[in-house]
Amino acid sequence: MMPGQGTAMKIAIGSDHGGFRMKEMLKEFICGLGYEVDDCGCQNEESVDYPEYAKAVSEKVQSGSHAAGILICGSGIGMSMVANRYPAVRAALCHDEYTARLSREHNNANVLCLGARVTGDGVAQSIVEVWLQAEFAGGRHQRRIDQFGN
Ligand code: RB5
Repeated sequence: MMPGQGTAMKIAIGSDHGGFRMKEMLKEFICGLGYEVDDCGCQNEESVDYPEYAKAVSEKVQSGSHAAGILICGSGIGMSMVANRYPAVRAALCHDEYTARLSREHNNANVLCLGARVTGDGVAQSIVEVWLQAEFAGGRHQRRIDQFGN
């Protein structure tokens, strides 16, 4: 379970035009799971540049104001590249429940990236639910994270 769950944990969510529709769908889904969602844009399907929205979400996770972030673009790749430039962010591009669970248990991922052009809505919902509920295992996995450096 993500730290802070049950105490109105805030999740920052952002997308570019390629992920806009999925962002809107996931916002409702995540609220239904009992989390507070902070929408960092974009606001419609007009073409935008994904780094702007990756930065908006990553800065909130980096600052500690939000325990987790979710970023969606067409492939999920650009979002994950930008988010992982922030030292306190561990962004994971996930395509299924297995990678979503392991990204939490082994990598303590605090940003989930999704590709709206490669992942269907139902799978995206399952990924998000598993990701939010999985717990970091610590131990040897923390030792490995400590070796990341900046
Ligand atoms: C936009 O066409 C697309 O490049 C973007 O959504 C994303 O897939 C980038 O990684």
